Amino acid sequence: MRCVAVLVCLSVLLCALAPATHALGFRCTSQPEATCQALVGYKSPNTTTVKSIQSLFGVKHLHSLLAANNLSPTAPPTTTVQAQDTVIIPFTCRCSNGSGISYPGPVYTVQKDDGLYYIASIVFSYLLVYQDIQLVNHIENANLIKIGQQLRIPLPCSCDPVDGQRVVHYAHVVAEGSSVEEIAWKFGVPEQTLLDLNGLANAIDLMADTAFDVPLEACTSKISNGSLDASLLVPNGSYAFTANNCVQCSCDSVNNWTLQCQPSKIAALGDSTCPLMQCPGADNLTIGSTTVTNCGSETCSYAGYTSQNTILTTLDLKSTCPGTCSLLAFFKRLTFSPPICFERSLS
Ligand SMILES: *[C@@H]1O[C@H](CO)[C@@H](O)[C@H](O)[C@H]1NC(C)=O
Ligand SMILES: *[C@@H]1O[C@H](CO)[C@@H](O)[C@H](O)[C@H]1NC(C)=O
Ligand SMILES: *[C@@H]1O[C@H](CO)[C@@H](O)[C@H](O)[C@H]1NC(C)=O
Ligand SMILES: *[C@@H]1O[C@H](CO)[C@@H](O)[C@H](O)[C@H]1NC(C)=O
Ligand SMILES: *[C@@H]1O[C@H](CO)[C@@H](O)[C@H](O)[C@H]1NC(C)=O
Ligand SMILES: *[C@@H]1O[C@H](CO)[C@@H](O)[C@H](O)[C@H]1NC(C)=O
Repeated sequence: MRCVAVLVCLSVLLCALAPATHALGFRCTSQPEATCQALVGYKSPNTTTVKSIQSLFGVKHLHSLLAANNLSPTAPPTTTVQAQDTVIIPFTCRCSNGSGISYPGPVYTVQKDDGLYYIASIVFSYLLVYQDIQLVNHIENANLIKIGQQLRIPLPCSCDPVDGQRVVHYAHVVAEGSSVEEIAWKFGVPEQTLLDLNGLANAIDLMADTAFDVPLEACTSKISNGSLDASLLVPNGSYAFTANNCVQCSCDSVNNWTLQCQPSKIAALGDSTCPLMQCPGADNLTIGSTTVTNCGSETCSYAGYTSQNTILTTLDLKSTCPGTCSLLAFFKRLTFSPPICFERSLS
């Protein structure tokens, strides 16, 4: 009896691990129940505002939508978005059964004259197919939806590392006449990586008006692994808020894929207030600032935050005279005496 029970369990396990055969979402197999931040590129059919795009996708905070698009954090909700402009939408991705979809939202309310195909292809600009909506909402007959019905919209995403590197997955809708080569060039990703990730045998298999998984290289930081935002990843050419919105970190590949963080100019989340963001012992240097000393420079960097509303910092000393000066800078912090620099000749 015992043997049989064990065998049954084993086969159930094997079944659960078998790859999903339906096309919902992007492939996501690294961790069974991983969640992460992901992006889709949305093209509104109509000229609209950032506020209505925020509401269509259920983005909680307008500033995170602005940040993903590298727009000013103080841009008004009425900021215009032209028809067919691509707006980057940030959302939470959850992986399950080998594929990744947005979780928990967005939720779309059916309007007069809507059909599932229209909702998937026009309202959500081909980011998904109508069968995806049908599947997650358990709709038997795709032609039977009611005005006012609430539909969960499963945006495609993934949390998988690519070539051993943590990335941000971006769903790019393939334009008519585009090619894998063009997408590879535009996003700086090798063609073969794109083909493998999207399960295409050949570049000619690319189909227009489908969502294509593009792994974006992202900046990481000196954030320590004990920090609540240790997994923070910010794609090139955008910024993000962290530490209860107290800190703003931006990514530009020219800085060697290292996040550049500074105190944010927006209010802290909830009713918290932002703590001091200074490197101790460095003349009250604030994160993101550098002072020039006789021997080089001192830079105060963001290093994460803790549940005690504390912001962690690191102080980098860049010395132009090796050896002597970092030691001097250390004493300088203790004594506040002006540092003296000795040139060392190695002849
Ligand atoms: C995962 O697959 C199992 C079995 O096929 C199914 O019962 C379950 O609902 C699926 N979970 C999700 C989140 O789709
Ligand atoms: C676009 O605008 C037209 C006219 O203003 C409207 O009828 C249509 O529903 C809009 N489409 C979407 C997808 O919002
Ligand atoms: C976190 O950092 C500590 C020391 O800095 C290290 O011992 C530990 O292995 C790290 N943990 C992870 C999950 O990386
Ligand atoms: C990063 O973005 C900037 C513009 O924001 C662009 O000039 C640069 O080429 C990008 N770097 C990579 C590696 O894609
Ligand atoms: C860039 O980053 C890599 C790995 O993080 C490091 O090895 C390299 O020294 C850095 N280069 C510069 C110029 O800082
Ligand atoms: C650093 O800040 C403390 C308190 O905010 C202040 O008392 C002190 O004078 C400052 N030191 C310097 C060198 O500015």
